[in-house]
Amino acid sequence: MGHVPETITITDNRTGQQVEVPIVNGAVDAKAWSKLLPGVWFLDPSFGSTAATESSITELDGEAGILRYRGYPIEQLAEKSSYLEVAYLLIHGELPTSEQFEQWRYDIIHHTFIHENVRKRFMEGFHYDAHPMGILVSSAAALSTFYPEAKDIEDPANLDRQIVRLIAKMPTLAAGAYRFSVGMPFVYPDNSLDFCANFLSMMWKIAEPRYDANPVLARALDVLFILHADHEQNCSTTAMRTVGSSHADPYSATAAAAAALYGPRHGGANEAVLKMLGEIGSTENVPAFIESVKAGKGRLQGFGHRVYKNFDPRATIIKKTAYEVFEVTGKSPLLDIALKLEEVALADDYFISRKLYPNVDFYSGLIYQAMGFPMNMFTVLFAIPRTAGWLAHYKEQLEQGARISRPRQTYIGDPVRDYTPLTER
Ligand code: CMC
Repeated sequence: MGHVPETITITDNRTGQQVEVPIVNGAVDAKAWSKLLPGVWFLDPSFGSTAATESSITELDGEAGILRYRGYPIEQLAEKSSYLEVAYLLIHGELPTSEQFEQWRYDIIHHTFIHENVRKRFMEGFHYDAHPMGILVSSAAALSTFYPEAKDIEDPANLDRQIVRLIAKMPTLAAGAYRFSVGMPFVYPDNSLDFCANFLSMMWKIAEPRYDANPVLARALDVLFILHADHEQNCSTTAMRTVGSSHADPYSATAAAAAALYGPRHGGANEAVLKMLGEIGSTENVPAFIESVKAGKGRLQGFGHRVYKNFDPRATIIKKTAYEVFEVTGKSPLLDIALKLEEVALADDYFISRKLYPNVDFYSGLIYQAMGFPMNMFTVLFAIPRTAGWLAHYKEQLEQGARISRPRQTYIGDPVRDYTPLTER
């Protein structure tokens, strides 16, 4: 076969003019496009057909069910790595050497404390029943006022310090938000514990001198954190990059990303799954529920994905982790309903034809519930590890020297009209 040109030829039927636009890595370069056809925009409101950036952090092939961080398959990382190592990989681009890892671990552990005023004056100022995700979003933003030097994002060493602080302090803020919401005293970080064990200690410790988490549960949480650490240009990462493109400091940008994660179509889905399972109530009600979804009365939460149209590789790993956790905690009463839902949906043409499969959130909520987390903490548990991914994108974007995000629109409102005074309307 002869040489196949990597271009697309477009005919402008208004003028008969033809333009040849290059395709680079499967994408049409918008810069080339806009020069050739000035004033013609792509109308793509949810960015479904738009590559917002080039990125070397996460590779995702939705058709093939592939997810890789910096080239490493998610299956290998979930089996052999730890969240802290994965966070280093995402931020720095390579797996750390033993020395680099020890330094990284030391740095993270030694930045887990938050300023007392963040807790006393800020977090404890919330209403007693405030949603922990609301507390997390606002306290992440508030941290920027405690580290005003964070504004100097052009200094790489300074930026790296803020990245360490954010990764280290998210679990402290998260556990603090939970303890406050149930009226329990705040637990200070324990520097002798690993990342996940320390988080579980801040969540559950009562009067014992040291809280030793069950190692199976600590490891399960670590696996869940690995699976949730990055997912390329999802809604919250897009928010991170958009806000970061204005050169807002990393705390404010992280708060914006966390706010995007809060929604039920994104990180809020695991909470929505459990609510849905509770409402279904028993396996006999599953077929009727599926029928109501097909009739357009709500969605099957934890099913479907914008990118994965075959299977979500994270869902496969998480299902296995769920059974390991249930060995320790006992089975969730909602598991049978979830399994029945999955079985009925996967055999139903409505879901098959739309390529709707269980996503990562279908099982994560069941695991969190079995581990004792209340439902309103589920999205918070997503935000803790995703912070590493958000920050990797923030850093990458800065290194790319990206311009400020500023999409176009197509105006469809009224044409020009004259103002009429209030008394004449
Ligand atoms: N239940 C029933 N029908 C669905 C579902 C669902 N969960 N998801 C999509 N559909 C239908 C939808 O009604 C539409 O049908 P039709 O073509 O007849 O109008 C078709 O499938 C395509 O849906 P879409 O809304 O165009 O798909 P999208 O890519 O815009 O949405 C999604 C992706 C994840 C928001 C959506 O599948 C959804 O709402 N799922 C439930 C919420 C959920 O589990 N979210 C977690 C995603 S994974 C973790 C994360 O990213 O945070």
